[in-house]
Amino acid sequence: MFRLAIIRAFIHILDLAIKHILLAVSGGIAVYKSAELVRLLRKQGAQVRVVMTHAAMQFVNPLTFQALSGHPVHTELLDVDEEHAMGHISLARWADVLLIAPATANTLAKLSHGLADDLLSTLYLAATCPVYVAPAMNQAMWHKLVTQENIQKLISHGVMMIGPEQGDQACGETGYGRMSEPVDICRRLMAEPVIECLSGIKVLISAGPTREPLDPVRYLTNRSSGKMGYALAEAALKAGATVTLVSGPVSLVPPVNAALIQVETAAQMYQAVMSNAEQHDIYIGAAAVADYSPVLSEQQKIKKHTERSSVTLQKTKDILADVAKLPRNRPFTVGFAAETDNLEYYAKDKLIKKKLDMIAANWVGRDLGGFDSEQNALQVFWENGAKNLQMTDKKYLAEQLISLIAENIKNYEKNTA
Ligand code: C5P
Repeated sequence: MFRLAIIRAFIHILDLAIKHILLAVSGGIAVYKSAELVRLLRKQGAQVRVVMTHAAMQFVNPLTFQALSGHPVHTELLDVDEEHAMGHISLARWADVLLIAPATANTLAKLSHGLADDLLSTLYLAATCPVYVAPAMNQAMWHKLVTQENIQKLISHGVMMIGPEQGDQACGETGYGRMSEPVDICRRLMAEPVIECLSGIKVLISAGPTREPLDPVRYLTNRSSGKMGYALAEAALKAGATVTLVSGPVSLVPPVNAALIQVETAAQMYQAVMSNAEQHDIYIGAAAVADYSPVLSEQQKIKKHTERSSVTLQKTKDILADVAKLPRNRPFTVGFAAETDNLEYYAKDKLIKKKLDMIAANWVGRDLGGFDSEQNALQVFWENGAKNLQMTDKKYLAEQLISLIAENIKNYEKNTA
């Protein structure tokens, strides 16, 4: 019996070199929060320059941002004086980070379609630096399909989302759409440490769907994209771990430094995970493994001769539960639970029944997050605790989950006797 070789959380705070923050403010009631944001960012040592849309100026006078940032506020695209002083191209070049907060539904729509009809949208096109966006709007506007499509498009172009959060809204409604608190935005931008919390640790991750063949051309599968599992692999690598990724069929680029094992079926995934589990310190079962597989996979293509047809299915082996049951060298085992109802009840039930160390639960079948989405929110449970990870892009969510796992393995003992 020996203690798992956990290298004490070796906190390696990188100099993120974010010195110049270009804050672009569009017109929503949350503009008042951005004034506080300027103050917080400057307190962290950043230089902040502010751009306001005309709508934003209806909510807060530019003088407020001028006083707080210590620089004139930029509001016009085609203004001789402004272009002479610091035009849109110079502003874009000056920025180490472009932060759009609040980003209204209209602004998000313009950015996702590449419009450039005001200073803010033109800056977005001209910017080559990382872009963060903190959306803020009424909950119905946030849930509207076209807004979600715009968000997904921006994320797929590399834009990083901060929030929005759930809660009471200025319009009197409750739901998603509140701009994240300035202190959280500031933390995300300035103090997001790269914590090498898994240095020396071996992590095995299963990701993506499985395909259960019916015949040579057809299979049973599910809507998993593999994005969460791949994001976890990236986050674990970033945290200093050695990563093995067992992946079902996905159309994602695998992390360069992970050992990749590609599989198709649940049985192949079982084999790949079980033959590697004992050599790893942590197992994260993020794959959407098929629960049932056809008893018979026909050698020839099934013909449509009959009006009705049926397939006999048999239950697949539960990879996660079998890893958690390993008598020797059992890794710290983390499962996922995707639920359409009673999320907490089912997640805690799985935690206990499958004898897991941790479970990350998320809603599916709703109009936000979950399968095949760029964003997600998680409720994480372990024996003596729980934590809610707010809706955000899967990359950042994965980093938060990896930190949480790292905190929880500190007391884990691996039985090698
Ligand atoms: O029991 P349920 O399928 O809802 O549990 C989900 C968790 O179990 C996920 O972590 C998934 O990867 C894992 N699982 C598995 N093998 C199966 C089915 C699910 O490892 N055959």
